[in-house]
Amino acid sequence: MNDMSSAPVASTDQPHVVRRLDYQSPDWLVPTIDLDFALSIDSTRVRSTLHVTRQRAGAPLRLNGDGIAVATLLVDGQAHNAWEMDGNDLVVSLSGDAHVVTIDTVVNPVANTQLSGLYASGGLLCTQCEAEGFRRITFFPDRPDVLSRYGVRLQADKAQFPVLLSNGDPVAQGDNADGTHWAQWNDPWPKPSYLFALVAGDLVASRDRFTTRSGRQVDLAIWVRPGDETRTDHAMRSLIAAMAWDEQTYGREYDLDVFNIVAVSDFNAGAMENKGLNIFNTRYILADPETANDGDYDAIEGVVAHEYFHNWSGNRVTCRDWFQLSLKEGFTVLRDQQFSADHGSPPVKRIEDVRILRAAQFPEDSGPLAHPIRPDSYQEISNFYTATVYNKGAEVIRMMTVLAGPERFRRGTDRYFDQHDGEAATCEDFVRAIEEGAGIDLTQFRRWYSQAGTPRVDVALAHAGDTVTLTLTQTVPPTPGQPDKQPMVIPLRTALFDRATGRHDGEHLLVLTEESQTFTFTGHAAPPVLSINRGFSAPVAIDHRADSADLVFLAAHDDDPFARYEAMQQLVVQHLVAAVTDQLSDAERAAGRAAIGEAFAAVLADPAIDDLMRGELVILPGETYLAEQLSPVDPGRVRAEREALKAWLGGTLAAQWRAVHDRTSAVPYSLDPAARGARKLKTQALVYLAPADPVEAINRAAAQYAAADNMTDRQGALMVLCGLDGAERDHALADFHRRFADNPLVIDKWFSLQAGSLHPDALRHVKALAQHADFTLTNPNRVRALYMAFAGNTAAFHAADGEGYRLIADLILALDPINGNVAARFVPPLGRWRKIEPTRAALMRAELERIAAQPNLSRDVREQVGKSLGA
Ligand code: TRP
Ligand code: ZN
Repeated sequence: MNDMSSAPVASTDQPHVVRRLDYQSPDWLVPTIDLDFALSIDSTRVRSTLHVTRQRAGAPLRLNGDGIAVATLLVDGQAHNAWEMDGNDLVVSLSGDAHVVTIDTVVNPVANTQLSGLYASGGLLCTQCEAEGFRRITFFPDRPDVLSRYGVRLQADKAQFPVLLSNGDPVAQGDNADGTHWAQWNDPWPKPSYLFALVAGDLVASRDRFTTRSGRQVDLAIWVRPGDETRTDHAMRSLIAAMAWDEQTYGREYDLDVFNIVAVSDFNAGAMENKGLNIFNTRYILADPETANDGDYDAIEGVVAHEYFHNWSGNRVTCRDWFQLSLKEGFTVLRDQQFSADHGSPPVKRIEDVRILRAAQFPEDSGPLAHPIRPDSYQEISNFYTATVYNKGAEVIRMMTVLAGPERFRRGTDRYFDQHDGEAATCEDFVRAIEEGAGIDLTQFRRWYSQAGTPRVDVALAHAGDTVTLTLTQTVPPTPGQPDKQPMVIPLRTALFDRATGRHDGEHLLVLTEESQTFTFTGHAAPPVLSINRGFSAPVAIDHRADSADLVFLAAHDDDPFARYEAMQQLVVQHLVAAVTDQLSDAERAAGRAAIGEAFAAVLADPAIDDLMRGELVILPGETYLAEQLSPVDPGRVRAEREALKAWLGGTLAAQWRAVHDRTSAVPYSLDPAARGARKLKTQALVYLAPADPVEAINRAAAQYAAADNMTDRQGALMVLCGLDGAERDHALADFHRRFADNPLVIDKWFSLQAGSLHPDALRHVKALAQHADFTLTNPNRVRALYMAFAGNTAAFHAADGEGYRLIADLILALDPINGNVAARFVPPLGRWRKIEPTRAALMRAELERIAAQPNLSRDVREQVGKSLGA
């Protein structure tokens, strides 16, 4: 032995890593729990009565806690001294196989700035327990494979907290002589602790009713602050539509007599699927035409449906452990995407979902935080609520629908729900149920669960005689901890178009399973135009240097609307990548622009396309997606070339944009697709006119702003004005703030528009806005409104002197002690340094190192910064 080996290791230097393969079934189960809350804003007493049953001989009862202390502890009604704290865990020695353990704790909701556990939001009390918040309320085996029946008694001052809600069904309530009142809620369905919820406060309900297909009458209520009940109609309609859709599409029926939704202003995420008591961020509930734009309406529909769908995919069948998170999230995202597609335009919805995947998930998959949809380890589970687990997770299950077809897939999900109802299941359980129910073999397909990284498929097309030879070669890039990859199963919907007729002879589903495979097609006298990965049937990057002429052809002729969009995107990506990397002669630049201009002109003129789709087709590929094609990238160059192309399109098609703006401005407000399409296109016209003719754009935007009778038009106009200089900009910003001063969700837009604007001084504006009286670090929506918009504003964030990086690092350090969960979400933008040109990369790295040097970082930020710096 030497001195070194016995030297103590500071615990902060050794992050605790949880590993998937270390899973062990629980030592004790808790079939029932009774919770009794004496609620108050700054001191809530929690009495928890656990009925525990032994599953492993000799094991003590280990209960998780976080920031709480035992006030009293009884076993079987008697004082019990055989317990100790092991770190945050309460370890109770128990002699028998079944006991009743009663524990009192006291928590201070108003001091809970992390918004995890029991906390106060504007005078309300509410909870957020996923993933590990329940242990901040009371001691419990806080893991999703411990399922309990909950009985909950709430008591509080009646004047201050007139409404008392928890999971399940209300069974009794009453008033006490001292001005308090109480309510008893029982949830008949066993559930894990992360699905527990309570809400207490001064709330009003918008009510409706839904009759399930077997005749159960369900009372629906959306609880909001007094005054907000006029803005719940869209959420209620969405809920009812989702309930009906899940019966029709997946055969899933609601299973309680009440379904409550509560909207709160302070929330770390979008919403939470607590059994029978969903809790929402107000931004995903409240809407009316004056304050919510069309995107907000869509987001409300999608999130309300998402949380409702969790009642089966998540609650009735839950996760065995947090490594299985995609079991519920990937599947539920797929279900909400399918629902929204069925309720709107399927191709437009598909385009939007792919845009989100490329903007948010592809960069994650190619960076230091890359992980499989079923991760193998974590330090802090909150960091794994990612676009990979959610959105790529949905894409992986969507591929199963492609491979199996819809009917067989439905047989698979029926089998999954039948077999695992009431259980805590694994991703493997899901895959096996689909295999058995659908009758398909997913052996190799399982690699999508274990391998991270976006596969690339290289395409080589040859033509000889009447035969086409298509050679596809896949590579899965190395990711942290996974240097070598195995070939994936990649289903590619493919068509070969005849240039002369503009048609194809039927779509083929090519399933790539080897590293490289060749597919041949006969009967093609002339070389065809290839349309591949139609509908984005696989979440991969296609490497195919297509002729501009072919892409213009597909943009005009492909019968798959997604493929038309894709051809437009690829046309622009190829051009901009060449422009940014200095590979364009003047003649090539002119030719590239001409091809893009031709495709745009065709889209603007085509009467067969509706405006909703037209509005999608004219959106240029995003800067993040472009940056993904370039490594290392100079973000300033990407912004400059993309804006230059926009200006050129604005100028060369100025007459068309003006005509579009005039035509769409005459369409009256309604929520029908034609009117929504008109609004989308209306602002797009201004977006293109702005760099080409700023004076005209300012005039048109100011007029659109003044005439607006809805938030879509008003926000679109203000967005365009924000990127330009002039009195109209200042006037509109001041008007917007005055008009909506009492509506926090709209003030969030006011912050975001300025932080995300194309204005060259956006960085300076953000610094000033951080000092604005309306800015606060304690409200996650406000923090995201200012700083996420800024971090996504590439030119501002990547200011050459590193000021943008400093700003985000300062934010992380200031926010971390308040809310580490939200603070950690700002690390990934800095973590992308390896992909950025060396001067900026060094500045980004230095900011990460400055954060890493701080003591007492939250586990959330510590993990993300550590991984971003790399070993
Ligand atoms: N389960 C929630 C959903 O996807 C997500 C969620 C709600 C969440 N609150 C959270 C994730 C807090 C992390 C932290 O529907
Ligand atoms: Zn979810």
